[in-house]
Amino acid sequence: MTPPARRSFNGPRPTDGLGGRAVEKIAGPGYRSRVESRVVLVTGASSGIGRATVALLASEGWVAFGTSRRPDRVEPIEGAILLPLDVRSDESVEACVTGVLEEAGRLDVLVNNAGYVLSGPLEATTLDQTRDLFETDFFGAVRMAQAVLPTMRGQSAGRIVNVSSLAGVLAMPFIGAYSAAKFALEGWAEALAHEVSPFGIHVSLVEPGFVRTNMGQSALAAEREIEDYRPSLERYHAALERELAAADEPGLVASAIRDIVNAEHPALRNPVGLEAERLVDLALSAPEVARGEMRRRFGLVPPL
Ligand SMILES: NC(=O)c1ccc[n+]([C@@H]2O[C@H](COP(=O)([O-])OP(=O)(O)OC[C@H]3O[C@@H](n4cnc5c(N)ncnc54)[C@H](OP(=O)(O)O)[C@@H]3O)[C@@H](O)[C@H]2O)c1
Repeated sequence: MTPPARRSFNGPRPTDGLGGRAVEKIAGPGYRSRVESRVVLVTGASSGIGRATVALLASEGWVAFGTSRRPDRVEPIEGAILLPLDVRSDESVEACVTGVLEEAGRLDVLVNNAGYVLSGPLEATTLDQTRDLFETDFFGAVRMAQAVLPTMRGQSAGRIVNVSSLAGVLAMPFIGAYSAAKFALEGWAEALAHEVSPFGIHVSLVEPGFVRTNMGQSALAAEREIEDYRPSLERYHAALERELAAADEPGLVASAIRDIVNAEHPALRNPVGLEAERLVDLALSAPEVARGEMRRRFGLVPPL
């Protein structure tokens, strides 16, 4: 039997923290609640890595939930449900997790993927811009994890996969606030992994290099312009163009996440793509050499 493209849901509907609207669940064609299947929730699934991950896991039989701040504007994902979520809001996070548990009865995997980038010199980036970025890229992941951990502890099983970045291991110039948020995510996830392993819960980090997504379009820029940085910024932007031309496809990251959630003992750190693998290794084993390569690649003077 072909399930309806849009499914209606009975029972109480929590408010979503986005202006008090009821949580609207938008089911993509082919969605069926399969209680015997594993259940995954991926934040930030309207585009890029999150969308590719939800689509892949749904196609492989998972009960897959993705999220967007505006799911009504998102092209449905075959076999998946889209829920509203703003990871900056406690109410929205609670409503989203409640929505998943009401529909699926449990949650096996959380993928903390929602995020954006803020570019420009750190000196020109305001504190408010930095705080806002952390609210999404770091505290958003913390808020989500805290919302799902009671359920995962109750199940004595669960996985939390955090989409970090090569920039969370090797700091990148001119996206410094983003790098800082990803470094925070790395430390927090490493500590969390220690704390929740007794409960059968695995925590992993995914560290892609450059990936072809909407991230460039949704990037915010530092509020001020400081003329002295212009020459460095011009060389940085030229280098960035070259890096983006060789960027990986989001499907590569989705496959890596699929492998992590299927692995019996997933690794904590999982660089994705040949360059990220090499540079994460280098950053962890020979940090000064890695920093030197970063400076040369992005035309920073003087080189190390
Ligand atoms: N692209 C790269 O080169 C790259 C490299 C390394 C790591 N990453 C990481 O990969 C993750 C996904 O990024 P992407 O490259 O796939 O970018 P993207 O295509 O721009 O997707 C970002 C997603 O985050 C969601 N999002 C943004 N703010 C949110 C908020 N406050 N609450 C809930 N969702 C929010 C967006 O959803 P809505 O706008 O629909 O709400 C969107 O679905 C990010 O964590 C990023 O740091 C990306």
